[in-house]
Amino acid sequence: MSQFDINSATQEPDLATAMKVVYQWNYGSEVEELRHLYVKALEAQWIAERDLDWEGPIDQIALAATPLGIGFPVEQTSYWRSLSADTVWELKKRMASFRLSNFLHGEQGALMVAAQLVNAVPHTDAKFYAATQTMDEARHVEVFARYIQKLDMVRPIAPNLKGLLDSTLATGDWIKKLVGMQIVVEGLALYSFREMRNFTEEPLLKEILTYVGRDEARHHAYGVQYVERCVPCLSAAEREELEDFAFDAAVAIIGGRNQAGFMAALLQSWAEAGIDTAELLACAQRERDQLTRAPRPGRRRGPVSGFVLPTLRRCGLLSQRVAGRFHGVLQENLGSQVVGSSVEEFMQWIPDLPEDTAAWLLGELE
Ligand SMILES: [Fe+2]
Ligand SMILES: [Fe+2]
Repeated sequence: MSQFDINSATQEPDLATAMKVVYQWNYGSEVEELRHLYVKALEAQWIAERDLDWEGPIDQIALAATPLGIGFPVEQTSYWRSLSADTVWELKKRMASFRLSNFLHGEQGALMVAAQLVNAVPHTDAKFYAATQTMDEARHVEVFARYIQKLDMVRPIAPNLKGLLDSTLATGDWIKKLVGMQIVVEGLALYSFREMRNFTEEPLLKEILTYVGRDEARHHAYGVQYVERCVPCLSAAEREELEDFAFDAAVAIIGGRNQAGFMAALLQSWAEAGIDTAELLACAQRERDQLTRAPRPGRRRGPVSGFVLPTLRRCGLLSQRVAGRFHGVLQENLGSQVVGSSVEEFMQWIPDLPEDTAAWLLGELE
């Protein structure tokens, strides 16, 4: 048995938050759709130990065959094709633990934000729902930690994700917490879970992502239904402030994939697997023209354009003012081919949210 201590080196205890707690003396339902969602969440509870098969080893062949999904077909380079099966496995294992560790840390952030929402949201239905989400997130932390333990080791959190979780936890404004967590972080999570779930044939990982994804679809629905109800009650200044908060949160994600720290950590983990990363990058550069095809204009691309922006628009938080700012940043990162050459075109290309997010996540919709 490990030694028990109140304080340990793995804790990071100093984040100050400005949250205010709201009592609600009306115990009746004021936001009926949230009451329904709460009942749905109660019915959908599951138990990781009982409902998932943890017994067997991880299917290494299936996991090694899971595409990296880093936005560039690095697996088609001649350098990659020259690697031994063992090296490919080592690399895929590290890459998976890198991604799953960030899912895991994000889940811890979600667990703490959901618990804060129980205190801070002003409606009883919303407090009830946040209580079920808190339980869901604890389970998500549990399953990702357990899977990573079987696979490899927990890697540190990406700095941009940490920054986003910090600002969502620290804000005193509960609507900002909803926007930061339910719309931006969970929008990113839904998109990433869907991608990984549909790419992988590793049975336990696929099962975990199916269970977790269904819960996340509900968490996102909570954000949409609640924020959509509240936005029309805000003053113009409050709405602008909320739009700006969403913008900063989403930009943290867009920037994150290109951040020097993130790439350095990723390449470091590849080098540990025995890869000559300089040669891999040089080879990818040499063969770039054969490997990349021009993206189709307006194609769904990435979590922000593909999911966060449709959600913000649905909630009434994508005014012309902030859309112009989004277009500027995305154009710089992805190019006009992907996001349109004008704000009007950009707005036209933003897809609608899927009618059924859970079905979309499970690949049952386009
Ligand atoms: Fe979660
Ligand atoms: Fe969640």
